Amino acid sequence: MERLRISPLHPVLGAEVAGVDLSQPIDDATRQALSRALADHLALVIPGQALTPAQYLAAATVFGPPMEQHYSQHNMADFPLIGLIWHRNGQRPAEQWHTDHTNRERPPAATILYGVEIPSAGGATSVASMRAAYLELSEDERRRLQGLTTFNSLDRDRTDTRPEDLDKYGQAIEHPMVRTHPIHGSPAVYFHISKATHIRGMTPEASQAYMADLLQRMIRPEVVYRHAWRKGDVLVIDNRATMHRAHGDYDRQESRVLWRIIVEGDRPRLMG
Ligand SMILES: [Fe+2]
Repeated sequence: MERLRISPLHPVLGAEVAGVDLSQPIDDATRQALSRALADHLALVIPGQALTPAQYLAAATVFGPPMEQHYSQHNMADFPLIGLIWHRNGQRPAEQWHTDHTNRERPPAATILYGVEIPSAGGATSVASMRAAYLELSEDERRRLQGLTTFNSLDRDRTDTRPEDLDKYGQAIEHPMVRTHPIHGSPAVYFHISKATHIRGMTPEASQAYMADLLQRMIRPEVVYRHAWRKGDVLVIDNRATMHRAHGDYDRQESRVLWRIIVEGDRPRLMG
């Protein structure tokens, strides 16, 4: 395999990776380099890929074992570990800042998106460094957040959740609001405003208000990498230290299709 080249895309997060063809088997040294690059840069763009579902699944294992996604109605019929992000099957773009599947005890370490059909304008995906955002908070607020946890379930604002998904993935799971990255030990803010039912010891209303206020204050342009999609891009997002969102600013006559894989991670922990 040719040599991996990693070039930062933004001062705070995001890097483009050249020199890897994800349709081919990936050697151990390259796997390790990609994993480490993800932890360091928090978002990797690997452009110019042409992948079948089976090749895509094999490549995703670089970042961890693929795991089942809830909202199973959007999974590919023949490859249920791949979720389809596509507005024409009734989905709305996820425009609220979030991190994926916080209702799991061990939420995904990474979310991987592959650009299959890309609109001619708009429809970007933005990623925010919650590690950089955490460092910008006052020391008092960092200390306060270190003592807080959220309880997480499936999104309350969805009406199309299948009963079997609710049974499997609807129980309350508690996570710290600051988590330590298992690779390099840096802290990052961690919560999902519409999956968190409440913060321990706070009412749902006060919890929502505080999380909304945090998002407003923490996610500034300086900590955001906005990815304008090209067909064939693979975007890997480190969920252990980022939040992301979709941009719905594209012409709905055009198609925007992304294939999503999530890979297993650790249980979020705050280490002292
Ligand atoms: Fe997401």
